[in-house]
Amino acid sequence: MIGDWLDIGSVDQITPGNARTLPVRGGDEIAIFRTLTGDFHALVNRCPHKHGPLSQGIVHGGVVTCPLHSWHISLKTGEALGEDKGCVPVIPLKIDAGRIFLLRSAVMDKRAA
Ligand code: FES
Repeated sequence: MIGDWLDIGSVDQITPGNARTLPVRGGDEIAIFRTLTGDFHALVNRCPHKHGPLSQGIVHGGVVTCPLHSWHISLKTGEALGEDKGCVPVIPLKIDAGRIFLLRSAVMDKRAA
């Protein structure tokens, strides 16, 4: 059902290898990433280490490097890779007819967080 998904705009608003942020009223900002191969992922914009803004990190493959202390975070699972431990919530995302949709209930959850 379309009502379960929030249309946040065209895929063209994010160039490959970049991210944009979506403010959530009363909750954590969400970061939407586009990889160089054209995949899209959405995570809470808060590194599991010390809350660095992941949207400002460097995207390589399916991973973003946090801009603060260079932890590597999987865009698919939100988990820190390598020696580092921690996880950031992933927001379910889908692409339909050139538009980006986030699962509404997952976004609303962030408001209560
Ligand atoms: S805040 Fe992200 S690595 Fe430290």
